[in-house]
Amino acid sequence: MEFNNIKSKFPIFKQRIKGKPLIYLDSANSSQKPKTVIDEISRFYENDFSNVGRSVHTLAVKATNKFEETRDMVKSYINAKNREEIIFTKGATDAINLVAHSFGEKFINAGDEILITELEHHSNYVPWHYLRKNKGAVIKFASVDEDGEIDVNEFKKHITNKTKIIAFTHISNVTGTVIPVKKIVDLAKSKKIPVLIDGTQGAPHSVLDVQDLDCDFYAISCHKMYGPNGLGILYAKKKWVDELPPYQGGGGMISEVKKNEITYADAHTKFEAGTMQTAEVVAFAESIKFIKDLGIKKIEEHESKILEYGLEKLRKNNSVNIIGNPKNRASIMSFTIKGIHPHDIATILDDDGVAIRAGHHCCQILHDKLGITASARASIGVYNTKDDIDILAESINKCKKVFEI
Ligand SMILES: Cc1ncc(COP(=O)(O)O)c(C=O)c1O
Repeated sequence: MEFNNIKSKFPIFKQRIKGKPLIYLDSANSSQKPKTVIDEISRFYENDFSNVGRSVHTLAVKATNKFEETRDMVKSYINAKNREEIIFTKGATDAINLVAHSFGEKFINAGDEILITELEHHSNYVPWHYLRKNKGAVIKFASVDEDGEIDVNEFKKHITNKTKIIAFTHISNVTGTVIPVKKIVDLAKSKKIPVLIDGTQGAPHSVLDVQDLDCDFYAISCHKMYGPNGLGILYAKKKWVDELPPYQGGGGMISEVKKNEITYADAHTKFEAGTMQTAEVVAFAESIKFIKDLGIKKIEEHESKILEYGLEKLRKNNSVNIIGNPKNRASIMSFTIKGIHPHDIATILDDDGVAIRAGHHCCQILHDKLGITASARASIGVYNTKDDIDILAESINKCKKVFEI
């Protein structure tokens, strides 16, 4: 598969927005879905649908096999050691809540410390806040510098003998900073502290090898990986899958239920309570195929070319202030224009068919630190081209004219 005709693989690009071609620059929010993924959802409902892991009839077996095939694909895609380390969730937020809840219940007590960073999405802060509120845990923040970087020493500085877990993003959803994850995991390992990586923005853009990374937990958002909505994945090392208590209770996650005692299922099953997303899991196999066909390294290269081109274009515009200047940045350009609210920028761009996001991007801690309440964000996916960036840049110029700045 080649990048030059990739839009043709995504039915959404057939339409026009306000009479203009769709320029989709909001993939960090949610990516568009290739036809193969969309088709697999209807194919599954038309041919194989049944609830999984319960009945013994033919359809139930077919559906369960398809469902479990995706688990195997994810396992090999991220190079996990064991298929039981792959837990399906309803998103990255759900995956992080699972860890905060289950790890917190067993291992966090009053005064224990959780180390996160100022770059975190609310999904990697609020779940830990519950442990602060309910158990008296302490949350510490590794600081981000002016460029949007976080140095390993920032982590070193905050680690104490009370640090029970370190949780940080792989790639910032505001500055696009690629965090030196391996170095931080190595530091944490040297102190025997478990690590959770919020891989929501990392997984769609980077080669993933969780064994090499040696992290304890890695949260993935399937809807940002050209996959169906309402689906996420938690990679958890087998040790934790075995040791952590379940997150939610219900059908499917038990071994035996008596009036006075309940025992739980083994492995990942313990964490997959109730009817799971079924067509979504099955269709996610097509997303992995799509990414593998293109090649994640080629995706990285393609997106970084478009990103460099975009940064160069935006830097030429004196009114545009790009947020952060990290040495290693992936696919994301957030910016402000003095005198124009980001929501107004996004609305004017929409008139040109350009879809970006505006707001605090669920990162209020970072926006507070920057002294702003909101920013505009253009984020790049496999389907974006230099032409898209040219239209973005022209449209930004139009904003200046509209607001006469
Ligand atoms: C860095 C980061 N973490 C977590 C999330 C939440 O992911 P999900 O929508 O899968 O719950 C997002 C979504 O934007 C994100 O960008």
